[in-house]
Amino acid sequence: NKCDNISIAIDGPAGAGKSTISKLVAKKLNIEYVDTGAMYRAFTLKLLEEKIDLTDEFKILEELKNTSIDFIDGHIYLDSKIVDKQIRDNIVSQNVSNIAKIKEVREGMIKLQRKIAEGKDIIMDGRDIGTVVLPNAKFKFFIIASIEERAKRRYKDLIKKEEKNISLEKVKKEIEKRDKIDSTRAIAPLKKSVDAIEIDTTNKSVNECVKLIVDIVEGR
Ligand code: DC
Repeated sequence: NKCDNISIAIDGPAGAGKSTISKLVAKKLNIEYVDTGAMYRAFTLKLLEEKIDLTDEFKILEELKNTSIDFIDGHIYLDSKIVDKQIRDNIVSQNVSNIAKIKEVREGMIKLQRKIAEGKDIIMDGRDIGTVVLPNAKFKFFIIASIEERAKRRYKDLIKKEEKNISLEKVKKEIEKRDKIDSTRAIAPLKKSVDAIEIDTTNKSVNECVKLIVDIVEGR
């Protein structure tokens, strides 16, 4: 029965812990996890690979028509190729917000995201899931953390990935820049849905956050 599907919308700024928490909640509840940021990242990766001028919206939209993106079983596909790793490169992070603010890019992704969610039990994370993509989601959470904490987490990830030419200060600046673009754009900006429950992960463990969400979804 379609009406009985579990749908959980997770939104919040970069590095707040959305995907780490969402993956674990999905596992606990045995539902599907969909990472919408990965879709915007995959398209940005393609533009970078094809050396498209990222200020040339006409060329970007031409490319969009010739690009197929999908998210299946936790993997992100770009033109039928899995690009889970490549989309995490810092060069992608630095450019993705400027691509994600383009109206036609968002329209394409939102259509795909709704199609993926249809008739399934899912947890989907992003910036506009509770506000735009799944406004009727049964559960909505807005995950936040201090800028210092978020920068530290991203910095650790990048160091682990051998991106050594980076400083904590630079990571912090990049996150602040991305948040600004994401939350001030004209279409579907990052914003807490009025009916979303806010969770500040700054001083909480991952498990605590997962438990908080699972307990609410399971009605405890
Ligand atoms: O969650 P993330 O860092 O992987 O997201 C990458 C970028 O994609 C983010 O800076 C903004 C954009 N994005 C978006 O605009 N809407 C979404 N639902 C998810 C991500």
